[in-house]
Amino acid sequence: SGGGFSVFRHPTPMRSLANAFTAGEVNDFLRRMKTLTGTNDIVFSAEPKLDGIAVNLIYRNGKLVTAATRGDGESGENITDNILTLPDIARTLKNTPVPAILEVRGEVIMTTADFIKLNETQQAAGKKVFANPRNAAAGSLRQLNAAITATRSLRFYAHGIGEADSAIGDTHTETMNWLATQGFLPAAPRCQSREANALLAYYENIQTQRSELPYSIDGVVYKVDSLALQRQIGYVARAPRFAIAHKFSAETAVTVITDIDLQVGRSGVLTPVARLQPTAVGGVVVANATLHNVGLIDEKDIRINDYVDIRRAGDVIPEVIRVISEKRKPDSKPWSPSDNCPACGGAISRDERFFRCDNLQCSGRQRAAIRHFVSRNAM
Ligand code: IVH
Repeated sequence: SGGGFSVFRHPTPMRSLANAFTAGEVNDFLRRMKTLTGTNDIVFSAEPKLDGIAVNLIYRNGKLVTAATRGDGESGENITDNILTLPDIARTLKNTPVPAILEVRGEVIMTTADFIKLNETQQAAGKKVFANPRNAAAGSLRQLNAAITATRSLRFYAHGIGEADSAIGDTHTETMNWLATQGFLPAAPRCQSREANALLAYYENIQTQRSELPYSIDGVVYKVDSLALQRQIGYVARAPRFAIAHKFSAETAVTVITDIDLQVGRSGVLTPVARLQPTAVGGVVVANATLHNVGLIDEKDIRINDYVDIRRAGDVIPEVIRVISEKRKPDSKPWSPSDNCPACGGAISRDERFFRCDNLQCSGRQRAAIRHFVSRNAM
């Protein structure tokens, strides 16, 4: 791992989820479950998909012995000391009775309010600010000094169990209710239904509530509720076949382009970047958006002072979707780039959609090359 955490092999693998992006794909999934089980009457459970750090809690005879990050799903990092600083995690389970071995799975998250507070504190202290609540949760959880983690207001939301050597309930819903009696916060609000329409209405409802929920979510998860049917349906590759994540489309916002700059890349390509009036979208304040290439500016006729729709999906760089042309002032003029490289002042060549600085000695290119060389995946 490179850090100070030891590697921990999960007793049962932590899998991933297949994604659906449209109602059609969700209907395909629901129909597939009926075909695979040979019954038309299946209860589904739905809950938010929390955008956090997946964690596995291992209980032996009711005592928390290990907590580990998901890692690659087979093994993760042993973060037990850090997890013990969280308030939402039982160290000892109530004897109802409890399975001798139990894995409780969920997400460690930071609420949006705590994320904003943390960044204010970090900024005031001249320390690193985090791009989004998920990065803040990850950074806080992976502190080598658990005393720092303890100051970071992390929460744990449970979304299921892994290995359990004796049954807790017959359905996912019963499992979640049992976890709640053990003091865990279940991913909520929840829904249980046999009807595709009700599940899709739940999705729409959660999507409208999205910005008011205390934490960031990136979709909802539908699961076959019966554990017996789950076993019958089984797994494909690294994901259960009995569950699917219905992802939200990227959040959008309206803002104004205050300027357009050209950024020099290591190959000399000049990427236009829109400077924006800072606007909150998808849980972070966005002040820049990529315009990809000069050809795209021409194609979409993007101008300084234009009102634009911007979009941010997860950690992806924000982008301009379209110009709101109704809001354009009559004196607006098309954007025209300068003839010279903003870094070295050298000549710019244009080839189809791309502008390029051809000067091999360009300070901007050299800077970008060094930045690339020292980046996480290089050197
Ligand atoms: S169920 C077999 N329920 O999403 C995996 N996962 O993309 C079953 N996640 O690794 C996971 N919220 O960490 C489930 N309500 C939820 C979830 C959830 C977030 C994470 C989970 C998983 C990842 C898969």
